Amino acid sequence: METTITTDIEKSQKLLKEGQLVAIPTETVYGLAANALDSNAVKRIFEMKGRPAFNPLIVHIHQMEQLPILAKDIPQKAYDLAEAFWPGSLTLILPKQDIVPDIITGGKPTVGVRMPNHKTTLDLLKGLPFPLAAPSANPFTRVSPTSAKHVLDYFGDQIPAILDGGPCQVGLESTIIGFDGEIPILYRKGGIPKEAIEAVVGKLRISTENETAPEAPGMLLKHYSPRTPLVVCDNLKEKLKENSLKKVGVLSFYEEDFPLATKVIALSKNKMLEEAAMSLFEALHTLDASGLDLILAERFPEKGLGSSINDRLFRAEN
Ligand code: TXA
Ligand code: MG
Repeated sequence: METTITTDIEKSQKLLKEGQLVAIPTETVYGLAANALDSNAVKRIFEMKGRPAFNPLIVHIHQMEQLPILAKDIPQKAYDLAEAFWPGSLTLILPKQDIVPDIITGGKPTVGVRMPNHKTTLDLLKGLPFPLAAPSANPFTRVSPTSAKHVLDYFGDQIPAILDGGPCQVGLESTIIGFDGEIPILYRKGGIPKEAIEAVVGKLRISTENETAPEAPGMLLKHYSPRTPLVVCDNLKEKLKENSLKKVGVLSFYEEDFPLATKVIALSKNKMLEEAAMSLFEALHTLDASGLDLILAERFPEKGLGSSINDRLFRAEN
């Protein structure tokens, strides 16, 4: 099958209506999308990603009215968050309605729902009579794609089309929030900082990770991983000296001057966390393709999006 990168929304709608998979842009990362109400199409997402069946998919919608069709017993705080952040980088985990196929939720009684903030994909969704199930468009455990080209590198020849919406402007996957009654729980750090969510619904409970029975497999320890070994460190210059015999790539926040490194990527020369987040996965893709022995990544300040970036770096390290 030849994969075309396209900006043709109607063509993408046609393919999706036929039950085919199409990669779609969102503001966070590219997704590998299918008709969420078609179990056969959704099954192929799992097969193509090599993703375990227990790891549920997020359902993407374009208007608030779709939420109660997919989810029930929706707490007021969920509506408050949806109103504050949708369309945007927030996924809500809620009790599922029967219409949601079990294959999407990995057999769980809950479903993850998100309204992405990307004009192309909102237009795509508006012309479809069904919502779209879409995980990040990468093989299981690999770095998420933030451009159409990344998707092509992973799945070229396996899907009919990649809908090109340009580089992802947030660059980190959505923040995932679930509920225990009215108590909000943080399942995955992401594109909306924890502090911004807490400003709307108060203190979040943090989901405790457990690698064998993860509540959200985005919390799996090994995830978002380049092929090249990656180490997170506080002092890049010292670590470079320790590894002076190796070809080392440096992933820094803003500094560029590392004479001992083979390759350096500074994520934001202006020290902006938003810019660093947007550039992170592109940088990991680039460093991973640079024939290095080791990637040294700088630990970020543990606040706002810095905390979400650190989360991805720690998982990439494993
Ligand atoms: O930004 C994003 O969320 C992107 C774009 C494409 O929307 N999607 C994404 O999907 O990151 P994926 O499948 O790579 O990650 C979804 C995460 C997984 O860790 C999954 O376990 C969790 O969401 N999840 C989905 N439904 C869930 C549920 N019912 N309960 C717990 N976790 C759930
Ligand atoms: Mg993913």
